[in-house]
Amino acid sequence: MIRKVKGTRDILPPESRLWGAVEAKARRVFEGFGYDEIRLPVMEPTELFVRTVGEGTDIVSKEMYTFADRKGRSLTLRPEGTAGVARAFIENGLGQRPQPMRLSYMGPMFRYEKMQRGRYRQFSQIGIELLGASTPQADVEVLLALHTFLKALEFDDLVIVLNNLGDPEDRDRFIKVLKDELMPNREKLCGDCRRRWTENPLRILDCKVETCRELVAHTTPVADVVSDEARTHVDAVAQGLEALEIPVRVAPRLVRGLDYYLRTVFEVISPALGEDTVICGGGRYDRLISDLGGRAVPGIGFAIGEDRLIDVLPDSFKHRVLDVPVVAVLPLGDEAAGSALGLTVQLIEGGLRAPAEVTGRSLKASLKWANKIGAAVALILGESEIEKNQVLVKDLREGTQEAVARDAVVERVRRLVGEGDS
Ligand code: HAM
Repeated sequence: MIRKVKGTRDILPPESRLWGAVEAKARRVFEGFGYDEIRLPVMEPTELFVRTVGEGTDIVSKEMYTFADRKGRSLTLRPEGTAGVARAFIENGLGQRPQPMRLSYMGPMFRYEKMQRGRYRQFSQIGIELLGASTPQADVEVLLALHTFLKALEFDDLVIVLNNLGDPEDRDRFIKVLKDELMPNREKLCGDCRRRWTENPLRILDCKVETCRELVAHTTPVADVVSDEARTHVDAVAQGLEALEIPVRVAPRLVRGLDYYLRTVFEVISPALGEDTVICGGGRYDRLISDLGGRAVPGIGFAIGEDRLIDVLPDSFKHRVLDVPVVAVLPLGDEAAGSALGLTVQLIEGGLRAPAEVTGRSLKASLKWANKIGAAVALILGESEIEKNQVLVKDLREGTQEAVARDAVVERVRRLVGEGDS
């Protein structure tokens, strides 16, 4: 047997229904805020990620699926979406369109990571990017869109954590403060952090090793070192969120695993998954497009890890999606089969889910199948029903049945399964 590649997943029904429902909700909410979908390639030139996500990051240094194509060009399966959006913005002259640009995307990303719950090598993100607005109001809007989406999925226990990373000019100053404070204990840092010391010292703040966490807990927060402009910006974001009653928690040592961020950075954590399995990450990246050779276009956005989001979906939302009533259409004999499919179409047009029996089973076996697929109602169509232009409507939950005139069936079934006459 050929098995799937390690770190990839088969998403089977009925779970796949949840994915569809979450994506539909994302489209509805983000379109409402004015975000239009951008569909981008899953492979990009490797250089794109090296120059944006950053050479010293875990993603670029050890997690990318990079390969040479047949002409020897180095390509990479996208590990994230923002770099591709920035590339497409420049390449397609999106700066010529009315600004700001609001773009959304969803789809697979690839990172060669160590497998654990919520950590896959192919995973899906749902993200939005707001390009061409540098005001705190833009940050507030992006976080409001995130909050609105999570609320639409009926979450009530997720926490948005927020930090101020300052501007790139503040970064060197902060790194010096951090290193000075950690220097006396440098030897106690884990091997990874000793490597980060030279390659990407900010990431020491994000280390999961307990001794590193303790050492880091006593260091000066980055927000204390940032410029007045950066402080004013992120303070205004926090105030804007408060005015909208969006609860956020300030996380003074929050840093992100990608180099392009400045000022506002945030994550969403779920009590169910713990602080290390983040549901969503995002922030501001005002230098990304100019670093790639475009004009100075500011940006802010986020990406939600869809696999993780679905793992912790509230039961109320899941029930709403999964417990939709099914009506099984059961024809008896060849003549009834064609008529049954016609009936199926009528039911579907009436807003019902109505799979038909197509394997030619006996009535007994058909009813067994209907029960197995969880049908609430079975519609039986035999020769005599066709003759009388009727359908036998069997309520499988109540065990009752009645003959109903063919043209009244859809309404009758809708009422039976609680779709009422809405
Ligand atoms: P990120 O934090 O690297 O940010 O990823 C965003 C989310 O993707 C994470 O919070 C997590 O939920 C999910 N994720 C990441 N890696 C995995 C994995 N191996 N398995 C499952 N889920 C995963 C970005 O990618 C940025 N591009 C976000 C952004 C958009 N910033 C601004 N705009």
